Amino acid sequence: MWETLGFSKNPYDANPLKPTKDDVDLLIGRVEDGIKFGTIIESANRGTILISGLPGVGKTSFFNVQQYLMESGEAAFGKKIISARSLCSIQTGDKSIDIALRVLHNTCRNIAEFCKSRSFAIPGKAYEIFEWLNGKRGGGFNFSLSIAGFGGGGGKQVQLPAPKDSSFEVLQIILSSIVEEAVTLLDIDGIFIALDNAENLDDEGISAILMSFRDTFFTIENIWWIVIGQTGLSSLIQVLDPRVAERMTGGIELTPITADELHTAIDRRVERFHQAEKGKAPLTQDVHDFLYESSLGEIRFVFKYASSICTEFVSQARSAIMKQIGSLDKLGGTAIRTRIDTLIGSVLVNNQIPSNHSMDIVRKIISEEINNLGLRHKERDVLKRIGENGTATQSEFKLYGLNSGQDFSSNYLSKFHKQHLLAKSQEGRRVHYSLRGIAAIAGRFNLFDGASKA
Ligand SMILES: Nc1ncnc2c1ncn2[C@@H]1O[C@H](COP(=O)(O)OP(=O)(O)O)[C@@H](O)[C@H]1O
Ligand SMILES: [Mg+2]
Repeated sequence: MWETLGFSKNPYDANPLKPTKDDVDLLIGRVEDGIKFGTIIESANRGTILISGLPGVGKTSFFNVQQYLMESGEAAFGKKIISARSLCSIQTGDKSIDIALRVLHNTCRNIAEFCKSRSFAIPGKAYEIFEWLNGKRGGGFNFSLSIAGFGGGGGKQVQLPAPKDSSFEVLQIILSSIVEEAVTLLDIDGIFIALDNAENLDDEGISAILMSFRDTFFTIENIWWIVIGQTGLSSLIQVLDPRVAERMTGGIELTPITADELHTAIDRRVERFHQAEKGKAPLTQDVHDFLYESSLGEIRFVFKYASSICTEFVSQARSAIMKQIGSLDKLGGTAIRTRIDTLIGSVLVNNQIPSNHSMDIVRKIISEEINNLGLRHKERDVLKRIGENGTATQSEFKLYGLNSGQDFSSNYLSKFHKQHLLAKSQEGRRVHYSLRGIAAIAGRFNLFDGASKA
């Protein structure tokens, strides 16, 4: 469908940028953050760095681009570190041992892919352990350790049990020997291991995992651990466990890119993916700005809804033509496609979807999404009023016809915040909430009056 709009590929692709040469130029801004990151890495030969920020602000993309620059040696400074091409995504309910096994698996894969990209042979240990993890080496598989403190350089043989029966200590020894071998053989300073989406665990879960990694995995030489999570991750860890916080090498909190940077980001993608020489973005700048403001600068939101507007626009054109054609289905594919293209061409203004048309579509999409949330009448009413008032605090419960601040906070404010319907900001001890994302749009279009459950 992107061809219909003149593109070889979706310019609003909302997936994170990858650690590849092609994607480096698509990252806009983040210069200061990149310098900070490189400097932290340069300052030691191992460490744990937190990258935090709101969902969709660009954490994974930022990290991936930094990884590419370091692995390729294109960074102005920093070290030569093998990219974590696969990130270890943290899942709800994960235990330390689950993550440890995933880490080992991904590390072997990441080393193998690095070697493949350089036409190097895969180091023996990474290869053997990968097979062991995948059940291709029976029980009692002999693994030779060669790291200092675990049998010396002589190559002591140990028998490994099945992966799921291995202790945390055994996995730590395995990981150290794989990395040591990689550093010796591959002319690199270390490897990245990334734990992504730490926010999928509750506070206790994060705390438990960081505690068990603190004196084990996080101490291994030549490994750079990157923990990616929610905004405020670093102060959360400080509160949860100062001992873990002390072990952290540094933290980077990413704030939203500016509206100008967003425009540049879109221009760059349009330039790359438009089939015409001086092609334009499918949507007008005021629609990009509208999405940017509604989401408080969350780029993933902008891209996701920009894509949806385009998809809806093309589907509407297609249905219109199919309805017109009706029984004349003898026309054939090519003729139908030509008609659709003609219709789309006639609706576009300067090759863009006109703003008012995009806004009608946004309204329709958001209205459906709000309905799908199945909000109760009272909930809709509260959201509507927060929109009218601009912000809300717990102490204003009476304004919303509620009996207590506790009720307002737990059943409305906190709940809506978790659903990404409210943004939270703190001013001293006062916590303010305001509509964000689809709720902000629903507020502007008065969509909270629609049908609701009871
Ligand atoms: N600095 C940036 N410049 C251009 N595009 C970006 C930038 N940061 C993020 N993006 C785009 O925004 C979307 C969300 O980014 P992502 O890294 O997945 O966010 P997060 O990991 O914080 O949830 C992706 O489509 C990504 O390509
Ligand atoms: Mg991410």
